Amino acid sequence: MTDLGSWLPRAVDANARWMTQFGAFEQHPSLRVDDTALERAFTELTDRLRDNYPFGHPRYVGQMLKPPHEVAVLGYLTAMLINPNNHALDGGPATAQMEKEVVIKLARMFGLPDHLGHLTSSGTTANLEALWVARESHPGKAIAFSTDAHYTHSRMCQVIGVEGVPVRTDARGRMDLDALEQELSTGRIGTVVATLGTTGLGALDPLPEIIELAQAHGARVHVDTAYGGFFTLIADDTTDGVARAPFAAIAGVDSVVVDPHKHGLQPYGCGAVLFSDPAVGRFYVHDSPYTYFSSDELHLGEISLECSRAGAAAAAFWLTLEVIPLTDAGLGQVLRANRRGAREWKRLLDESTRFTAYQDPELDIVTYFPDRPSLSEIDAASAKLFVAAAALPPEEQVHLATYAVKPDALAARGHAVVGDVDTGRIMRSTVMKPESADAVVEIHARLESLVG
Ligand SMILES: Cc1ncc(COP(=O)(O)O)c(C=O)c1O
Repeated sequence: MTDLGSWLPRAVDANARWMTQFGAFEQHPSLRVDDTALERAFTELTDRLRDNYPFGHPRYVGQMLKPPHEVAVLGYLTAMLINPNNHALDGGPATAQMEKEVVIKLARMFGLPDHLGHLTSSGTTANLEALWVARESHPGKAIAFSTDAHYTHSRMCQVIGVEGVPVRTDARGRMDLDALEQELSTGRIGTVVATLGTTGLGALDPLPEIIELAQAHGARVHVDTAYGGFFTLIADDTTDGVARAPFAAIAGVDSVVVDPHKHGLQPYGCGAVLFSDPAVGRFYVHDSPYTYFSSDELHLGEISLECSRAGAAAAAFWLTLEVIPLTDAGLGQVLRANRRGAREWKRLLDESTRFTAYQDPELDIVTYFPDRPSLSEIDAASAKLFVAAAALPPEEQVHLATYAVKPDALAARGHAVVGDVDTGRIMRSTVMKPESADAVVEIHARLESLVG
């Protein structure tokens, strides 16, 4: 582990040394704090923060959550001591340059021949920008996305006043191509949103076929890889890699979103949107009497809907990529370990007499349910397991998440379950830490003993 205890004082020193050259000054008395008061408040803070799940522990295998890499923390805190704002260039020239460099690295990872892009504060904001550009490019046209796409797409369609068209999914949670073609043939769809790595199941929409259909009907394609985008690094059809074709097709889309704060080892506050046609910059054009005065060079705020953004987020991502690059040998090794963990868990589920795998994981999200005859009983057993696993003594706890499914989705996957309720919860586990992959056997055994 990178020893933050020894690196953080270096960040403080570097900042202090840099500031010294401008001349010493005293902090204003109004900003001084009492050490005893801080001691008390800090103790309370650390106490209160224990009201959390141990996201960084291998046995936390619930939601898409994990702490950032220590190097990202170091990069973030080092830049945060200066607190640059990546809006106008004079808000933070160094971190604006770092942002441009990491965005180039993302564009190269996706194989985009050309690009215009920037970091955002989240995947939600990044997708909002992509949908807004979709509206501006094809005014009056609707936006189609699968019923398993992140809920943000239908909400953001409401926000920007565009009709959102849900397209049904197939038996693996992927956009159904026949249903898409039917919608496209109406002529009302201007943009199709494909998802590589749905939030619930990690399913991969068939991007090459979606692009072909969209092009045949004059529609654009946006791909939401907020969760799955970094799997591009290991998209080689190998056993610990992922399917090649959908990721290779990203090079041919109009826009792509990826969240460094998911699989890019970053703290929250780091999404990204990239457009393949730099000319979409024309939609962003605006002026302001109080900014953009320092140079003729492009200011990131001129191609972003957000105003203030943390330069520290760019510094964190930049520093991380210097030591864990966007290559198979770099970040790819983290993702391959996750994939091995997910596949191993699926194998254990296939051998189990107490659980059934809901479907094959295409990325690192494993879904499964306790063997019970009806959906209402599966729901009750899943809810009980979620609570019981988290209530074990700390050194044994397992933290999970649940996923709501409908009877027809179970039937489509060949599960003979009595559909006595409209929806029921099954288990959903994200194996997004390589350390969790090594703990899968232990986790599975513990869940087997709990579920009865
Ligand atoms: C596929 C997908 N799109 C968009 C989002 C929203 O991203 P954020 O939570 O960064 O706003 C998520 C979050 O899980 C996601 O999985």
